[in-house]
Amino acid sequence: MTGTTRVAVATSALGLAHDSDLPVLLEALRARGLEAEAADWNEPDRDWSRYSAVTIRSTWDYALRRPSFLAWAEAVEAATLLDNPADVVRWNTDKRYLHDLADRGVPVVPTRFAAPGEDVPLPEEGHFVVKPSVSAGAQDTARYAPHQRGLAAAHAAALHASGRTVMVQPYLSRIEEGERALVFLGGVFSHAIRKGPVLTETGLDNTRTPHPGLAPHQPTAPERELARAALAAVPADRPLLYARVDIATADDGRPVVMELELVEPDLFLGHSADGAARLAGLIRDRAASAARPRA
Ligand SMILES: Nc1ncnc2c1ncn2[C@@H]1O[C@H](COP(=O)(O)OP(=O)(O)O)[C@@H](O)[C@H]1O
Ligand SMILES: [Mg+2]
Repeated sequence: MTGTTRVAVATSALGLAHDSDLPVLLEALRARGLEAEAADWNEPDRDWSRYSAVTIRSTWDYALRRPSFLAWAEAVEAATLLDNPADVVRWNTDKRYLHDLADRGVPVVPTRFAAPGEDVPLPEEGHFVVKPSVSAGAQDTARYAPHQRGLAAAHAAALHASGRTVMVQPYLSRIEEGERALVFLGGVFSHAIRKGPVLTETGLDNTRTPHPGLAPHQPTAPERELARAALAAVPADRPLLYARVDIATADDGRPVVMELELVEPDLFLGHSADGAARLAGLIRDRAASAARPRA
């Protein structure tokens, strides 16, 4: 093979404007000798087969267009190497995967799901959270107090009216001690951060930044154990290029999975001395081993 290996980092208009990992990753890929471009997954005319690998990153606008996003992922995967793979994207873009994790014995935030047409089980006691099963960046996510059940029911009805499945969870108040995000690169633990609570007020929605108060975090042994168990439960046939396991503390003090982010998580590369370089190295190696003559 001659010439430089070309790779794409898939993003979105939002990502191009706000993904702080993106410039860091592009620079690290170029430092590894790759020709690297950021590419909006929505561009209709882009020829993805021109790249030896496509890495999904800040495709943050997929939530309202999940079927198109899945079709895009499958089309790219038919043309080149896609990470994470399309079947992982399908599984992980709907938070019903939390049930799969629970079925495999992984502790998760207790969650009830209600598809359109099904009753929404709002708790009688305690604060609770209503959110759509397909979402990113805390969009359409709100916390309610018991006296706000009417407001919560209206929120759920609006989600149902737009064809979305509703999730109801107890509000885990110990999230105020910090949600932890453990980042794995190539299946190996890389770094972790702690972030502040997002749902600081009740009855509101779409009102905050997704990652307030970021600080470096040294994960505890139970957190690492939980993250490993969650990743072991992922239906994937090769190690994931990247993964982020978001962990909260349940009322009894145990860590539980809030979210397993395998599609478009911020990886907080700025919080790791060499995370971007390692990720770029993994992308280069995978692109090289996937390289095959094209017919
Ligand atoms: N059950 C919950 N208890 C406490 N906080 C929650 C709960 N569910 C969501 N949140 C807050 O909302 C944020 C976004 O929810 P999350 O489930 O992570 O969805 P996404 O990040 O995909 O939008 C979380 O990071 C957390 O701060
Ligand atoms: Mg989250």
